Amino acid sequence: MRAATRNKAQFVCQNCGAVSPRWQGRCDDCGEWNALVEETGSAGVAAGPGKPRRSGRIIPLEGLVGDSTEAPRVQTGIEEFDRVTGGGLVPGSALLVGGDPGIGKSTLLLQAAGALAGAGHKVVYVSGEEAIAQIRLRAARLDLSKEPVKLAAETHIEDILATLESDQAPTLVIADSIQTLWTDRADSAPGTVTQVRASAQALIRYAKHSGAAVVFVGHVTKDGQIAGPRVVEHMVDGVLYFEGEGGHQFRILRAVKNRFGPTDEIGVFEMTGGGLREVPNPSELFLGERTGKTAGAAVFAGMEGTRPVLVEIQALVAPTSLGTPRRAVIGWDQSRLAMILAVLEAHCRVRLGDCDVYLNVAGGLRIGEPAADLAVAAALVSSRLNAPLPAESVFFGEVSLSGAIRPVAHAPIRLKEARKLGFCHATLPALPAGGAGEDMGESMKSRTIEQLVELVAAIGASIHGGSTDNV
Ligand code: TYD
Ligand code: MG
Repeated sequence: MRAATRNKAQFVCQNCGAVSPRWQGRCDDCGEWNALVEETGSAGVAAGPGKPRRSGRIIPLEGLVGDSTEAPRVQTGIEEFDRVTGGGLVPGSALLVGGDPGIGKSTLLLQAAGALAGAGHKVVYVSGEEAIAQIRLRAARLDLSKEPVKLAAETHIEDILATLESDQAPTLVIADSIQTLWTDRADSAPGTVTQVRASAQALIRYAKHSGAAVVFVGHVTKDGQIAGPRVVEHMVDGVLYFEGEGGHQFRILRAVKNRFGPTDEIGVFEMTGGGLREVPNPSELFLGERTGKTAGAAVFAGMEGTRPVLVEIQALVAPTSLGTPRRAVIGWDQSRLAMILAVLEAHCRVRLGDCDVYLNVAGGLRIGEPAADLAVAAALVSSRLNAPLPAESVFFGEVSLSGAIRPVAHAPIRLKEARKLGFCHATLPALPAGGAGEDMGESMKSRTIEQLVELVAAIGASIHGGSTDNV
């Protein structure tokens, strides 16, 4: 029976793991092209515990009330990392750290491993990508050579598990990367979805029964040709993405899934010659050089999780020479920009149809908050009218299709951060959700607006009046 299923060829999408009986150019499930690869054996099913079938055991069913103590946490001491994981690693849990090759995943995890080992925990770092000597070189560069991290360069899951099980369970096991691991249980080549899934499953099972926290590293490929860690995302307790824009030394660790904590937290690092350095005050990083003399820059008082982050939004609106004007965005949502442009055109009589529009978020940050609408609009209008915004001004608020400015959450925290960084003007919605920021005292003048057209008028007036005080 088993042999029969094993010999049967099937085609597994390397992007999403969907199985198809015959080859197709495009995966029916995820729509990815050229992702189907022939694999023999049942996809991942054989990777179950592998025990002979027996009749089921009766399991006790439990109620919702009962013992529910918070999972204890193991903190690495790297605060930015601990915050994103929701307060530290949870014993027995599995975490996936994904990111483009070369972004610094191995560096981050080696630093975390070093910190934990230094604090007396047992940490095992299994690398399938690099030789021991390479890891040692990196450790020397990170000044971690003295830390008692246990290294192995191995890809065979059965060997890794045997090693782990032969001794007291470690606090943390790092598998770098999940794509290199392979198990005897699956017949496909290493790196295929079946292998990745079976290997991850085996390590997750080990984590659950031993109480060790397991961290997988996964490469994310843009074209999805190599088995993406997508299939693993569903299996693990948390997924962190390590991102950064090419050319910037800033790296952002972002939780996209977390069964034990919030998913909107970010950790900010800077890649230096000696490894990743924590950036406790990211606002300073995402603010460009503000002179108040160049048009098209507006400071957005944003929130990343529980933390306020001030970031400069840069816009360039220039007459186009093309039939269809160009719209290019970095760090923000393209369709959101289209919406703001339409609102400016329809409700504020700002002509943009014959202009190219470029929008950039400084420092390589990606903003997902709708609260950035007002700052984006301010940057666009400032550039269109060639009217610089005052250097000490911040903006936040959501723009609705009618041109009304909608309140956003956490206004007081945003204002406080702005004031801390020396800003003394804020343009915000009339009724900030959760209380207004009027009690900011003398040092912060806030201007509340109800309609986007008021902002456009104020920026327009600043050109004629020569003063930008009312922006
Ligand atoms: P790495 O952690 O190997 O990336 P990943 O595991 O995500 O593929 O980091 C690779 C890059 O980081 C490499 O281009 C060199 C750079 N780097 C530094 O700038 N400083 C350092 O101290 C280290 C260790 C790496
Ligand atoms: Mg690496």
